[in-house]
Amino acid sequence: MKNYQIYLFPQFLSLLIIQILPIATQKHACDVTSFPQASQFPFCDTSLSYDIRAKDIISRLTLQEKVQQLVSGSAGISRLGVPSYEWWSEALHGVSNVGPGTTFNATVPGATSFPAVILSAAAFNASLWYKMGQAVSTEARAMYNAGLAGLTYWSPNVNVFRDPRWGRGQETPGEDPLVVSKYAVNYVKGLQEVSNEEGSGGNQGDRLKVSSCCKHYTAYDVDNWKGVDRFHFDAKVTKQDLEDTYQPPFKSCVEKGHVSSVMCSYNRVNGIPTCADPDLLKGVIRGQWGLDG
Ligand SMILES: *[C@@H]1O[C@H](CO)[C@@H](O)[C@H](O)[C@H]1NC(C)=O
Ligand SMILES: *[C@@H]1O[C@H](CO)[C@@H](O)[C@H](O)[C@H]1NC(C)=O
Repeated sequence: MKNYQIYLFPQFLSLLIIQILPIATQKHACDVTSFPQASQFPFCDTSLSYDIRAKDIISRLTLQEKVQQLVSGSAGISRLGVPSYEWWSEALHGVSNVGPGTTFNATVPGATSFPAVILSAAAFNASLWYKMGQAVSTEARAMYNAGLAGLTYWSPNVNVFRDPRWGRGQETPGEDPLVVSKYAVNYVKGLQEVSNEEGSGGNQGDRLKVSSCCKHYTAYDVDNWKGVDRFHFDAKVTKQDLEDTYQPPFKSCVEKGHVSSVMCSYNRVNGIPTCADPDLLKGVIRGQWGLDG
């Protein structure tokens, strides 16, 4: 996509300049210095609730603009002063450049890399997990300020590690739903919570330090095994196993960690793709658990 745009650039120079300039000079939406019209939009009025502001901006979008926001590399909406944004950054055990939203260069050549999650989980130390999350999100904010990272991190991976053939077990806090849940809650809070002046954690209203994402929902633990790949895998799970094993980390993420997002998984569960299952998504995550991110 990037190469495509660069290739086309000379031919559409005049057209693109008009669209790109307002975006290039501003980092975030509602920046009145680079985009004075922003002061007229209710979605830029910080005295209004997030609900009202979100409804306002959505009411201004065309169908095409809405669709452009549904992918991780979302296009900007220059006429509203909204810059493009890459939603995909990763911080599984430290800020990582696996996601396209984050890059390292000579200014920030690297970030702290904590041990693989399965090892940190083996410390059985909840305050340690919380402090790791805090350290990671502090570095994430610094990198965001330097123009090198996003604010939305697709971490942690809280799939219960049931099947050693999976190949992603080291990313997870292991096989025990309770430990995975506790790890998830603490790491998510470490990433998301805004510290008070003394530097200790604490929920400061509805502000986020960075946004965390619990993935991959749900019953995902096969990537590619003897002709079965993750995009076609149909996990056959009993109701009891779903409730006892696979769901607790996600439930804890939402109810106790107040995570701001959850990623659906690649596979199907009992024949239905998780990303297209209204019961698992709207019914359980938003309905029963109350995800409001
Ligand atoms: C748990 O982690 C904390 C750091 O958050 C550390 O101070 C403490 O010593 C650890 N506890 C144990 C039993 O290792
Ligand atoms: C690293 O990237 C940032 C963001 O684009 C930029 O501001 C900075 O100058 C870069 N550092 C170097 C040494 O190129």
